[in-house]
Amino acid sequence: MTSWQLRKKYLEFFVGKGHAVIPSASLVPENDPSVLFTTAGMHPLVPFLMGEKHPAGKRLVNCQKCIRTGDIDEVGDQWHLTFFEMLGNWSLGDYFKEEAIKMSYEFLTSEKWLGIPVEKLAITVFAGDGDAPFDREAFNIWQGLGIPEERIFKYGKKENWWGPAGETGPCGPDSEMFYITAKPACGPDCQPACSCGKYVEIWNDVFMEYNKTAWGKFEPLAQKNVDTGMGVERTVSVLNGYGDNYQELMKPLVEKIEELSGKKYTPLSLRDTSPCQVEEIIGSMRVIADHLRAATFIMGDDLGIAPSNVDQGYVVRKLIRRAIRHGRMIGIKENFSHKIAGVVVEIMSDVYPELLKNKEFVLANFKIEEDKFTKTLQAGLSAFAKASADKKKISGELAFNLYQTHGFPIELTKELASEKGLTVDEQGFNEEFKKHQELSRTAAVGKFKGGLGEHTEQAVKYHTATHLLNAALRQVLGPHVFQKGSNITEERLRFDFSHGIKMSAEEKAQVEKIVNQVIENDLPVNSVEMTVEQAKKKGAIGVFADKYGEQVKVYSIGDYSQEICGGPHVERTGQLGHFKIIKEEASSAGVRRIKAILE
Ligand code: ALA
Repeated sequence: MTSWQLRKKYLEFFVGKGHAVIPSASLVPENDPSVLFTTAGMHPLVPFLMGEKHPAGKRLVNCQKCIRTGDIDEVGDQWHLTFFEMLGNWSLGDYFKEEAIKMSYEFLTSEKWLGIPVEKLAITVFAGDGDAPFDREAFNIWQGLGIPEERIFKYGKKENWWGPAGETGPCGPDSEMFYITAKPACGPDCQPACSCGKYVEIWNDVFMEYNKTAWGKFEPLAQKNVDTGMGVERTVSVLNGYGDNYQELMKPLVEKIEELSGKKYTPLSLRDTSPCQVEEIIGSMRVIADHLRAATFIMGDDLGIAPSNVDQGYVVRKLIRRAIRHGRMIGIKENFSHKIAGVVVEIMSDVYPELLKNKEFVLANFKIEEDKFTKTLQAGLSAFAKASADKKKISGELAFNLYQTHGFPIELTKELASEKGLTVDEQGFNEEFKKHQELSRTAAVGKFKGGLGEHTEQAVKYHTATHLLNAALRQVLGPHVFQKGSNITEERLRFDFSHGIKMSAEEKAQVEKIVNQVIENDLPVNSVEMTVEQAKKKGAIGVFADKYGEQVKVYSIGDYSQEICGGPHVERTGQLGHFKIIKEEASSAGVRRIKAILE
């Protein structure tokens, strides 16, 4: 079974059960600043799970592009991916537990569909806790379908509860389906919750009947929903008896990496060198394939996201830089990331045509980023080796120096450290980071020393102007406006935002007038640290995801704008000069793009 066949079968099966096929939404959630990426198919459907009417009806099905970076350190093993495709079907207040489970069972076991023998399936259900009871109903339904009691496992919230996708929202107990592989069990207590590889989760039926409030309470939802998710890569792998995700859809990527590195991706059973060395090479190849595929999809998602030091752009930077280091580790000397990206576009754009549309932008950004990082990587690695010799812990100062001077994301330093059995003083790094931000605000900013060097004086001005523009757009066009992307150079700012129609000349003039008025008023720019919850309560806008811990920084520009942001910014708006919009155009469906300059 190929991925292509699985997608087709899944959609066909659910269409046969009265579901409407909806397209994959963008990887960056629209109108939801609480998370950086779409992490599941339900994500774009939150308003409809909460009761809004979906134009396509109450039964939906699709294949959704997803990004999850929570387990990024695990990538390199058999199953973890940062980008993956999720097949899902939804009931928006229509069918519930019984029908959902029966449909799942039929799709998995019927010869017409996946034809998995029942004895190859294990099931988990929610065991119950103070928030919600044991899901006896799900347990009984599975048992009634012929799954023996000893293959139905009960777990708590950690395993069998899904959502909300952000801080608040629809969620509920779930029931997961595991494929029992041919691998021997790791011991007598081996269970689905064990990660030894005996049990591989392939599908999750979530019974979304609760809403998690900002106060952490689980209130019953007015409408009971079903939300399910099946990972394409994983399911195809287990159905074909592959021991990892890299032998079907990702295979052309692995082959390209083999060609570039001259190393072989040796399937486990065909090892011929020392297991340890092979394992490392395979791990690096997986990191490269996964990370560059994910970065290609993020940059190819119509929003113009490029590597940067903020938000989604920072994730792209981390993915690319980690992949490049692994590339060098396995002997790829040339600039290669764009070549892997080219293969991703080639093999995936029949399903995701936006990749082809944005190919030039994506490949150009890979080249630029790899050039930039290659310049500092070797020196950074030497600096790391020198400074870490006979140490147990990497100081915050060293980690920050690697970040500032050599463009090493903290995660990369952590990885280098763990390879040598060392730890990193992350708190110290955060403190250095903050100290530096303060310094760059008070000094006449000047350039960072290189590496991630986009914080020039002019870029900092554009950064502050972007906050003003964001606030002015919301004032003129309405609160539906959210930042969808941002890119700053020495010459201009570029800002993508959610808005469906072309701005009129009057609207543009009004936005310019407001921004220039705020500049003229010479308002102070201040930052305060607070928790995400406090920031939300204060009404701050921005991406509610933390890169450096629970605390976030909220920048206020007088009373005019409050936005979560890492900075740096100018001290007073009077420093900015005259603001002018030079272009307003469509960026993608429902997203407009403004380019503006400071004169
Ligand atoms: N939203 C559920 C998941 O991602 C289906 O597992």
